Amino acid sequence: MPMPIEIHFKDVDLDLVAETGGKVVVFVGDNGRLDAGARRVNRLTRKALARFVESEAFAKLSPGDVRPMAYPAGMAAVAVLVVKLDKRPSVQEARKAGAQLAKQLGEDDLLVLAGTLGRPDEIALGLALRAYEFDTHKTGKKSQSGSATFMVSAPEEVAKSARSNAAIAEGVFFTRDLTNEPANVLTTDDFAARLAAMQEIGLDVEILDEDALTKLCMRTLLSVGQGSDSPTKVVVMSWNGGKKGDAPFALVGKGVVFDTGGISLKQAAGMEEMTMDMGGAGVVAGVMRTLALRKAKANVVGLVGLVENMPSGSATRPGDVVKSMKGDTVEIINTDAEGRLVLADVMWYAQERFKPSGMINLATLTGAILVALGHENAGVFSNSDDLSKALIKSAEAEGEGAWRLPLAPAYDALLKSKVADMKNVGGRHAGSITAAQFLQRFVKDDVPWCHVDIAGVASTKTETAYAPAGATGWGVMALNRLIADKYEA
Ligand code: BES
Ligand code: MN
Ligand code: ZN
Repeated sequence: MPMPIEIHFKDVDLDLVAETGGKVVVFVGDNGRLDAGARRVNRLTRKALARFVESEAFAKLSPGDVRPMAYPAGMAAVAVLVVKLDKRPSVQEARKAGAQLAKQLGEDDLLVLAGTLGRPDEIALGLALRAYEFDTHKTGKKSQSGSATFMVSAPEEVAKSARSNAAIAEGVFFTRDLTNEPANVLTTDDFAARLAAMQEIGLDVEILDEDALTKLCMRTLLSVGQGSDSPTKVVVMSWNGGKKGDAPFALVGKGVVFDTGGISLKQAAGMEEMTMDMGGAGVVAGVMRTLALRKAKANVVGLVGLVENMPSGSATRPGDVVKSMKGDTVEIINTDAEGRLVLADVMWYAQERFKPSGMINLATLTGAILVALGHENAGVFSNSDDLSKALIKSAEAEGEGAWRLPLAPAYDALLKSKVADMKNVGGRHAGSITAAQFLQRFVKDDVPWCHVDIAGVASTKTETAYAPAGATGWGVMALNRLIADKYEA
């Protein structure tokens, strides 16, 4: 997979600073002390750097902020980029610095004078994440990111830790590409093919077609796709890096490649955003990619339900009653509440087949979660204090917002149907919670489980700290860390 920016690490050679073109990056902490690299730049620029560092403007900068000094005298570079960062930055500060550098990058090469600065691998990760662009469908000249060369005191060691961060970045980019891709390109077939291609990096990938799903009695899943010309599929990805025989952890994703609402058709304005309704499946795929690339010592299965929700003569009608794989019947009041129908069957299948030690499902499930939490936090619903706490902690450590919301029997009661075991929508109120209650009916009591509603965070119209406008890849880093901390320790 092409990375948005090429990053190298090499030994420090300050004699190259004067003659290097492109942009030269120096780091200065709160105390204003100049390290060897910064001292060299200061000397070449006849103390311009020191004047900036002593200014009020510099004092006002936060850790990770970057300011350019254009066309410095005494240097071949087009700019010196001054980064305010202490010698021992936190992970978040280092990544922020990298992300801000990405925004200053343009088409120039960077020479990053990191020396003995802490966490250069995290600076590189922030740089890569923010340098991402989705320009697959732009013709003509594409903007070409320059490369970045980090001069560090221990290049081999840094390159090694940067490699495991590159596995994370590649997982995030995989998720973003899938989520950004339009629905005429990312059909269910195309999605499955992209997942099957991950066999090359060591994942086991199995594709269940409609015949197989019919035999498994996955009628709630199949009912969502029956109006579409694209076939419904379930893809099972397995990574067995842990102990043989240890129960796997299960990740399940909603993969609605396009959500028109079906016969309960959505309004036209903004419907194009529903290309991202496979975001949950995208996150599952990205995490599996990262786990394989970094050869995680854990057993993890990722299952995605790939389906298109279209209106047609064969589409599900409001009022139809379908039977889930579990055996419970569902009255489909609103065909636009389709994500839960997809997840119900795939989650049940995941538990029946894999007897997982725990399960997390991710889905762009409800518009109501945007009303509650906006773009800042995903909604977390869980039957386990333990698992939800661990997930939220991992998300926080990775700068990905997550907030727990309640489940309770009184909400579950809102799903009562006159003709079937349940209906697929509650009322107008607490829409994200009733959706989660619906899912919980398909979770076995002894399986620790979280449902993560990512409708607000999977894709945004404005840029975020680590992504340009569009898909964010939210959750890949949080889940990767959760697995690393809880299941590989
Ligand atoms: N895919 C949507 C939820 C969504 C909304 C995702 C906005 C991203 C941004 C989901 O399938 C849906 O349509 N949910 C309905 C549920 C309702 C019919 C109970 C909703 O939120 O309006
Ligand atoms: Mn819908
Ligand atoms: Zn949907």
